[in-house]
Amino acid sequence: MAFSKIDLRNFRCFDSLSIDISSQSTFFYGKNGCGKTSILESIYIASSGRSFRTSNLESLIKKGSEAFIIRAYDDNSGSILEVKKAKNKPINIKINNSRVTISELVRAFPSFSIDSKTFFYNDNAPEYRRKQLDRGLFVASSDYAKDWFGYFRSLKQRNSALKLGDIAQAKAYDQLLIDHGEKLNFMRENLITEVKEIYYDLLNKLIHENKRAEIFCDLDIYLKPGFNSKAGLMESIASANNIDLKRKITTVGPHKADVIFESKGLLIKDIFSRGEQKLLSILWSLSQNIYLGRSFNLSPILLLDDLSSELDSEMLGCFLPSLKYIENRFVFSNIVDLFGSKISIDKNTFKKFHVEQLK
Ligand SMILES: Nc1ncnc2c1ncn2[C@@H]1O[C@H](COP(=O)(O)OP(=O)(O)OP(=O)(O)O)[C@@H](O)[C@H]1O
Ligand SMILES: [Mg+2]
Repeated sequence: MAFSKIDLRNFRCFDSLSIDISSQSTFFYGKNGCGKTSILESIYIASSGRSFRTSNLESLIKKGSEAFIIRAYDDNSGSILEVKKAKNKPINIKINNSRVTISELVRAFPSFSIDSKTFFYNDNAPEYRRKQLDRGLFVASSDYAKDWFGYFRSLKQRNSALKLGDIAQAKAYDQLLIDHGEKLNFMRENLITEVKEIYYDLLNKLIHENKRAEIFCDLDIYLKPGFNSKAGLMESIASANNIDLKRKITTVGPHKADVIFESKGLLIKDIFSRGEQKLLSILWSLSQNIYLGRSFNLSPILLLDDLSSELDSEMLGCFLPSLKYIENRFVFSNIVDLFGSKISIDKNTFKKFHVEQLK
């Protein structure tokens, strides 16, 4: 399911706002402080119960008000979602008037955000890339979620036993760790392989429109599983027993995985400029979104705040043709209008809003 319309009440700078986001791509533009990030943030909250910017949801209630309400409508299924956050009260989420948990919400209306942290995806710690990978699969597959919980529960118990120096007790969790861990690794490997295919397919199209996109072609992208893949998880865990006991923690396994982006053996974070890193992250996220939509029968919304920051006009020129190839819904923002009035706009595929004029 995906939202067609979103209504805001007392959310950040908005008293009340109603926006149609039913087009394939929806673009918001306007000057600093007009509310672009707030709109994208409201869509993210409506599909996850969380903000991509802050853990303090109370700060999003408009100054002087007691609560914010976000209502979102899905015209296809007729569903109505309501997210309410009042001061000193927990967030309250209802779909068609029935309370739902955050994990139910995330699966019903998935959305992914490409924000300032994602722009420099490769500059972040491995944990961040692991989280991005896991969040996608977690939302898409309840089997993945089960294995994820199973794995981390066993890992916690194994680590507690290691802290006590009890290797026999620690080993008692090995089989669970292996069973769940192998499944996590399999789905992660599969995602990387499939997303890579979509990514290169997208790039082949983009290169025809703009030669500069070639820089994103010559890359090695792979999953570092967190253990010796040749030996397998079982053998890797067994051979790390002594180190684990010494360090009092499980040192190998999918909890140590990373996604590596390299060019000719060098890490992308060490060679790509900031603009190049940002565009790479956007193209990779787009490809992951297409994969999740196709493979898991989802309609995830992809949110991208501040498209052109750090990108020169040529880099933007590399990106803009990809709008044609986006599957699912894409909502993005920029300070200035990137699409002049001359462009003939098909309302089903593209809609733009000047945010200052919405108030
Ligand atoms: N709780 C709140 N109550 C009232 N106004 C708020 C609240 N929180 C934020 N604002 C204001 O909302 C406005 C919109 O912020 P937002 O971050 O959405 O702007 P933006 O269009 O993304 O700007 P930029 O281009 O600088 O990123 C800002 O002026 C901000 O100060
Ligand atoms: Mg902003």
